[in-house]
Amino acid sequence: MTDSPPILPGATLGVFGGGQLGRMFVHAAQRMGYRVHVYSAHHGSPAGRVADQEHVGRLGDLRSVASFALSVDVATLEFENVPTESIKVAERHTPVRPGSHVLHTTQHRVREKRFLAAAGVPVGPFEPVDSAEMLHAAVEKIGLPAVLKTAQMGYDGKGQRVLQPGADLDAAWEAIGPGDCILEAFVDFSREVSMLVARAPSGELVLYGPIENDHAHHILDVSVLPAPDTSPETAERAAKIATAVAERLDAIGLICVEMFQRPDGSLLVNEIAPRPHNSGHLTIEGCRTSQFEQQVRAVCGLPLGSPESLRPAAMANLLGDQWFASDGSAREPDWIAALHTGAHVHLYGKESARAGRKMGHLTLLSDTPEHARAAVRAARSRI
Ligand SMILES: Nc1ncnc2c1ncn2[C@@H]1O[C@H](COP(=O)(O)OP(=O)(O)O)[C@@H](O)[C@H]1O
Ligand SMILES: [Mg+2]
Repeated sequence: MTDSPPILPGATLGVFGGGQLGRMFVHAAQRMGYRVHVYSAHHGSPAGRVADQEHVGRLGDLRSVASFALSVDVATLEFENVPTESIKVAERHTPVRPGSHVLHTTQHRVREKRFLAAAGVPVGPFEPVDSAEMLHAAVEKIGLPAVLKTAQMGYDGKGQRVLQPGADLDAAWEAIGPGDCILEAFVDFSREVSMLVARAPSGELVLYGPIENDHAHHILDVSVLPAPDTSPETAERAAKIATAVAERLDAIGLICVEMFQRPDGSLLVNEIAPRPHNSGHLTIEGCRTSQFEQQVRAVCGLPLGSPESLRPAAMANLLGDQWFASDGSAREPDWIAALHTGAHVHLYGKESARAGRKMGHLTLLSDTPEHARAAVRAARSRI
């Protein structure tokens, strides 16, 4: 906890990463009167295109990172795979929230799981793996089915393989290794939920969730808030876990805690995102304060906003696949049809559509979370 003075509107905020999470942060920050500089690997990134300034450089270029840090009053991130070394260099020139200690823990799955276990947070069985021999030994301990994942740089299910009983372990290692990996017991969950936590430098903290998340092909597909059929005990346990994670990490800013809920109702933490999360996009229309405005407030040391849910909300991702017809030819999605359904359309300004690439999302509010979910799925099928 620190009592550094708040960073007021008119100041310049920095964001590491140029993707859609940065873009929506820029929108929220500019609305509140801040200037925003985006550090991006490529010119014309989704966030860079709406920022006051786009600073193009490699994330590992320490000189470039230092000059970026000197140009802002505080920095945050929208992407966890910024080298910790770079954030340490940036911290010599400006506060970075969350800081390098948070990144160090959350950008490596083995460190992250060890941190969670040490913090007394429930996690499934896991073993570090960095060779084919270690994979065999880990399977002996954990059993199958299990999931082999790269320890670093994975996202949207990339760098993962599910190992079923009888799987060829050497072939799996060939596919996912070499390098640091983790073997996790396959969790037989009934659903996935997430909690968002905004935490200010004073230690003040607000929570959103549980949000229910449906995945398709290991990529988030649809999120719903409030998560249907959630007992008060489950909601309380999820809130306790998320609070413990944010406090033990000493994270300032906005983080997300992804969890599995098992058939007996118990929760296990899957992973932590030290940044806004795809499952929180529905807070833009669905809640009094969006996850992005909350990130601005937390990072600047302003009072946090109310996370109150205004109406049940559901979000459906729009992947690049929607830009192609079944015969593979390019097509423009039917935005007019989508808008007729009452959905809010968000597009990230990406130049080209690719299968599996997150291009935008739809959000729809309704009277119940179940209605919102059905309606947003129907809206997406209309485009
Ligand atoms: N141990 C596991 N057991 C069962 N399913 C898993 C496990 N780990 C991951 N998954 C599935 O794969 C998805 C993506 O994995 P995750 O670890 O969250 O990586 P990413 O960084 O790609 O989001 C999860 O949301 C979940 O649906
Ligand atoms: Mg995940």
